[in-house]
Amino acid sequence: MKEHVLAVIGCGRIAKNAHFPALTQIEGVRIKYACDLIEEKAAYMKETYPTVVENVITDYKIALADEEVDTVYVLTPNYAHYTVTMDALRAGKHVFCEKPITVNYALSCEMAEEANKRGLMLNIGVCNRYHRSVEKLEQMVREGKFGNLYHVYCSFRSFRSIPGLGGAFTTKEQSGGGVLIDWGVHFFDLILYILGGAKLQNLTCDAYCEMAKDMKSYRYTSMWAEDTADIENGTNDVDDYITGYIRTDKASISFNGAWAQNIKKDEMFIDFLGDKGGARLAYGQLFEFYDGATLETTKEEYEIPNMYLCEDIAFLESTETGEKNRSHIDNILESAKLLDALYASATERKELSF
Ligand SMILES: NC(=O)c1ccc[n+]([C@@H]2O[C@H](COP(=O)([O-])OP(=O)(O)OC[C@H]3O[C@@H](n4cnc5c(N)ncnc54)[C@H](O)[C@@H]3O)[C@@H](O)[C@H]2O)c1
Repeated sequence: MKEHVLAVIGCGRIAKNAHFPALTQIEGVRIKYACDLIEEKAAYMKETYPTVVENVITDYKIALADEEVDTVYVLTPNYAHYTVTMDALRAGKHVFCEKPITVNYALSCEMAEEANKRGLMLNIGVCNRYHRSVEKLEQMVREGKFGNLYHVYCSFRSFRSIPGLGGAFTTKEQSGGGVLIDWGVHFFDLILYILGGAKLQNLTCDAYCEMAKDMKSYRYTSMWAEDTADIENGTNDVDDYITGYIRTDKASISFNGAWAQNIKKDEMFIDFLGDKGGARLAYGQLFEFYDGATLETTKEEYEIPNMYLCEDIAFLESTETGEKNRSHIDNILESAKLLDALYASATERKELSF
């Protein structure tokens, strides 16, 4: 790989747990700037990776003004994706932006247009497209192992997982929504990827904000992203439960998602139903394949490489070759369109057609 000079903007959880560990393993990567509004978070990255991270800054415009920087990682909360990405593209940088693209489809399209107009790469953090199980399932569907894949059901439900109650995660203006845009984005993106270019036809959706509508009475034992919580003065106006039905020109899709529910089960899986075979993918893990002819169940064991490392390498390579890969924004817009339409259907309480 050639030398890549990076600025990483946003040094929170996904930066710390996924992208810094991955990027610092890739030969040729220099992280010239680690940037966060909270200086200690950026400084932590330099202390942890002193041979790769060169400078700590709090104003990302410093990195954008540096001509040596060719690539920018945008790992901020959703509300800042659009502004930081557009600024980086206008400064002539390739951009990797975490999921969701941004808070709605219209702004997502603007981001794609800006990148394409400038001939710059803009990839989105749809890490599941690099998960070995997803890659294998996609290949099996293409090889006809499922026959006619007529329906997909997915469940992304948890007992108590509302993040940062009252903070950015639960404030629609900043996050774009709740469990649908936060967790559903991954499930729908990987389903659309496996279905391979399915065109949306119509859908219906219901969204609920029930479990913490009175934030002070929400009972839980732990809360991820608790550091952003503001139960006293904050906002919770997003979906904690979502359900619906989607028709495409390929399979139909039904789903239930819950950040929190009064059922003490965490169920994270996707069922792919075909007339020859079916599979249950345990989200982020292996899958079982059910052969309709032999009645046998197979669960192949295989290595699951670090999907963040795979997506980062693929992105950096694409900036060298100019070839748009599976996580290029052009290939993700359909799932952004889907999320917007699901929210619109829930708000208007009616079926919507494309
Ligand atoms: N792909 C995945 O599996 C995955 C998992 C978790 C989060 N994410 C996404 O990653 C993004 C970040 O999530 P997180 O959990 O790391 O959030 P986080 O709040 O832990 O970190 C975000 C950081 O960005 C910083 N920041 C905000 N605005 C900034 C700006 N203008 N300049 C510099 N720094 C700024 C904040 O101070 C914070 O430290 C979100 O969009 C989220 O949806 C993706």
